[in-house]
Amino acid sequence: MLSRRRFLGAVGSTGLVVAAGCDENAAGRPGSSGFPGGAQQKGERLQPGSAAAPQPFTQPLRIPPVIQPVRTENGTDYYQVTTRVAQAEILPGTRTEIWGYNGIFPGPTFDVRRGRRIVVSTRNELPTPTVTHLHGGRTPPEHDGYPMDYILPVGGWSSAAHDAHTGSVSPGTRDYAYPLDQRAATMWYHDHRMDFTGPQVWRGLAGMMLLRDDEEDALPLPHGDREVPLMITDRTFNEDGSFMYPSIDPTLRDTPGVTGPYHGGVLGDTILVNGVPWPFLEVEAARYRLRFLNASNSRQYRLELDPRPNGVAPFIQIGSDGGLLDAPRNLDRIDIAPAERFDVIVDFSKYSVGTRIVLRHTGGTGNVGQVMQFRVARTASDDSAIPSRLSTIPRLTPPTSEPTRQFAFQQGPEGGKMVWRVNSRSFNPDFIHADVRLGVTEMWQLVTDAQHPVHVHLSPFQIHQRIGQSLAPTDGGWKDTIRLEPNKVARILVRFDGYPGKYVFHCHNLEHEDMRMMANFTVR
Ligand code: C2O
Ligand code: CU
Ligand code: CU
Repeated sequence: MLSRRRFLGAVGSTGLVVAAGCDENAAGRPGSSGFPGGAQQKGERLQPGSAAAPQPFTQPLRIPPVIQPVRTENGTDYYQVTTRVAQAEILPGTRTEIWGYNGIFPGPTFDVRRGRRIVVSTRNELPTPTVTHLHGGRTPPEHDGYPMDYILPVGGWSSAAHDAHTGSVSPGTRDYAYPLDQRAATMWYHDHRMDFTGPQVWRGLAGMMLLRDDEEDALPLPHGDREVPLMITDRTFNEDGSFMYPSIDPTLRDTPGVTGPYHGGVLGDTILVNGVPWPFLEVEAARYRLRFLNASNSRQYRLELDPRPNGVAPFIQIGSDGGLLDAPRNLDRIDIAPAERFDVIVDFSKYSVGTRIVLRHTGGTGNVGQVMQFRVARTASDDSAIPSRLSTIPRLTPPTSEPTRQFAFQQGPEGGKMVWRVNSRSFNPDFIHADVRLGVTEMWQLVTDAQHPVHVHLSPFQIHQRIGQSLAPTDGGWKDTIRLEPNKVARILVRFDGYPGKYVFHCHNLEHEDMRMMANFTVR
């Protein structure tokens, strides 16, 4: 058998895959004009080559620990988090250097309640600045993780690149205060450092926050061990087990960006769920609540169960990015773009004991075509149910029949190269694309060239229309990120309530975001 190193030598490539690949992913391919197409196809073929990668479904799923507050005062829970470098065993028998919240990847899970304010004191022991954004949070602007509101390393920092950026910079430590005055939802938190979010998230800076409320607690949904957060990411590893990422400047100090062929996005060859490669989970023959988060830099997944359950839909969706749907929806498959969340029930009682069910990514090939496995271990009683009414969602109505604004997410030439832009502008912290009034609903029309998952901070939205298409079965409920395929137009209804201030919206393909596919809006 050819060792991986010799194999790599032979084809002169790496295990990294460009998002413009032959795979399902049109992430980096605007229309037909293109990115280099040859290298990534070799990359795809290297998927099974990761020397230390385990056989799929040999590692048990791990559940990230729930973080506890260090103290409680006047109804506020105080947490302490340190971002730091640590070693993790991701591929069995090897060590991977990670950058993690409290030194773990994924970071600890916040299990919190609506209306109970929390303060997360974050100390940065990493060698570079970091910024934390609570994705899905209805958060005042100074705590939202604006990309230049750096927490500098405790050891100090200077960099020519960063001197040019001014934000509200904190030396060493910063307190993020989250009112959590919003509906129960599956949220997540991640690094949002200007120009370097892609590599810093890739190194591990991402975790989940499960926000609960009385409305949801009153429902007889599966809970306890039968409620499982599943953070899906793809990564590629070097021979020694370290993460591979094509940064131009691997110190992440000065020069942002990835090397040429990865301009469209970086895809890994190893699928991790909660940081474990292709794990398995033993389940009882009962209903489970699975909270899917796609925390991958640029890979979009098409999730399907193989085999399908008998007599029910594979996935019964109960929640979206912004919490409970009004009523459950049956889904055959889930197309999940980076940063989207799907809260679903899978009824394992519709399988016989002993069945092994593969959660597939049917858009992928080889090992990338599978995500994890469920093993139905035993029969069990189940007092859960899926109510036919889950919640009430006010249906937003368009203010007029025409969109208030249009935003084109497209690449274009700038400084002699192609960059990712919004309305022909790459991110400029001083340019405001939209100035909106607190409390209004606007219809935004979004236009793409390549695949661009568009995320709006602060304000949840509803997907109103996909021009020339019907709405997808997965489009329901309150959203904060919309999956958009190449060359498409969609209309979203965004309700700007929360707090006045300056926020960003951007493509959540992190390589596109780092290459400035981001824009500001202000609320007042
Ligand atoms: Cu999940 Cu502005 O990001
Ligand atoms: Cu966000
Ligand atoms: Cu994009």
